[in-house]
Amino acid sequence: MAERRAAHQLLDKPLVFDDPLAVRIIGRRAEANLPEQPKHFVAARFRAFIVARSRFAEDELADAVARGVKQYVVLGAGLDTFAYRNPYSDLRVFEVDHPATQAWKRRRLTEVGITLPSSMTFAPVDFERETFDDGLRAAGLDENVPTFFSWLGVTMYLETSVVLGTLRAIYEMNSANGVVFDYAVPRETLGFVGRFALDRLSQKVKKAGEPFVGFFAPGALVASLKDIGYTHVEDVGSRELDTRYFASRADSLHPRGQVGRLMSARG
Ligand SMILES: C[S@@+](CC[C@H](N)C(=O)[O-])C[C@H]1O[C@@H](n2cnc3c(N)ncnc32)[C@H](O)[C@@H]1O
Repeated sequence: MAERRAAHQLLDKPLVFDDPLAVRIIGRRAEANLPEQPKHFVAARFRAFIVARSRFAEDELADAVARGVKQYVVLGAGLDTFAYRNPYSDLRVFEVDHPATQAWKRRRLTEVGITLPSSMTFAPVDFERETFDDGLRAAGLDENVPTFFSWLGVTMYLETSVVLGTLRAIYEMNSANGVVFDYAVPRETLGFVGRFALDRLSQKVKKAGEPFVGFFAPGALVASLKDIGYTHVEDVGSRELDTRYFASRADSLHPRGQVGRLMSARG
């Protein structure tokens, strides 16, 4: 995913997601991997969704900050770079990730000379062994302060009960919390092209040892979020993302897939 964000900085104009650290965190591999990120329309569609979800999350974060939110938690952060280019002087950022991924990222940050701002804290959590809220408390998150969460590229690798349990825990921590996440829709709700795309992607991630297991139908997911207590719930698909972020482009960078969608929910 980080390679795609880096490829976006190098290949696409105008930028949908402007991340001055995206190439740097990948290092020399960003340019070496460009041949695998050609201007081919399938690669461009996938890259479009990946950059749109980051843009959407950071736009929703901006709205949350304008409402007074002072803590941002990046769940399953991977090589996300927000914490190192945080423009909000009073926003604390917590990166939650598997301890092994986090250790690898920290080595990478040192290697490429990205310094850790005092506003950011690492919270190592193995979701399979501990709950993310314990990890965040241990890292110093103040639960009494409304917090915004992003959770990108993770829900499809988890059982639906774990996903819903996490969304409930975010709300129960503080009912003014908000969250943005992406999710995959069930295969049977897709048309022929969507099934083909999902099958290809599923084979790829399964081969990498991380199969897709969590799928949600949009209407049912919205209902589950409202049941939990979230009052503002917005479900966004490729069509809305295209209108919002990719209108009147001359190139082939457009999200067109049916498999991945984004959800924003707050109390
Ligand atoms: C596909 S990556 C997405 C990374 C990032 N959010 C992005 O969009 O680039 C999935 C992330 O989930 C994390 N993850 C997977 N299994 C985990 C576990 N058991 N506990 C904690 N994090 C886990 C990985 O370490 C990785 O950072």
